[in-house]
Amino acid sequence: MPALKKCYHIRKGDFIRAGEASIQAKNVLKSLNLDPELIRRVAICGYEGEMDVVIHGGDGELCLAINSDRLILDITDSGPGIEDIERAMQKGFSTASDEHREMGFGAGMGLPNMNNNADHMEIKSEKGKGTQVQMTFSTTRGGNKVE
Ligand SMILES: Nc1ncnc2c1ncn2[C@@H]1O[C@H](COP(=O)(O)OP(=O)(O)OP(=O)(O)O)[C@@H](O)[C@H]1O
Ligand SMILES: [Mg+2]
Repeated sequence: MPALKKCYHIRKGDFIRAGEASIQAKNVLKSLNLDPELIRRVAICGYEGEMDVVIHGGDGELCLAINSDRLILDITDSGPGIEDIERAMQKGFSTASDEHREMGFGAGMGLPNMNNNADHMEIKSEKGKGTQVQMTFSTTRGGNKVE
């Protein structure tokens, strides 16, 4: 059982509320007085993951679980899924529509950025069923990723 677990709903296509789940998660981390560098990395991952759900996924949620030594950020949705995860992870790969590109999304940098900022990232996805992106962060050592 994690010491603390919070989940926030994410709605597909809801650009009015987009970003709120990751802001709320960030506020929880701030209230716990965690290392600002760790909070920054988790916030980047949360925001990128949340926007992927809004743009490419379906309805879903962002969950934050904190244990004594690690933090788990779980972003799941019940959208179309990712057909080729390896390809989706490549820098610059994007299936964003013209409309989303006009809004500034679609550089194909979100997943690589999340992978760089988390200590560990795992994607599980099934076509037609949805996607789970799970990222873990150590809370016991300094902010920077050890390569
Ligand atoms: N939750 C998801 N559901 C379905 N497909 C996804 C999901 N997340 C990512 N993808 C797929 O992976 C691709 C790469 O995602 P990534 O976040 O790296 O780039 P992007 O969202 O297209 O652009 P950017 O994040 O730079 O604005 C997406 O274009 C989309 O095809
Ligand atoms: Mg993205």
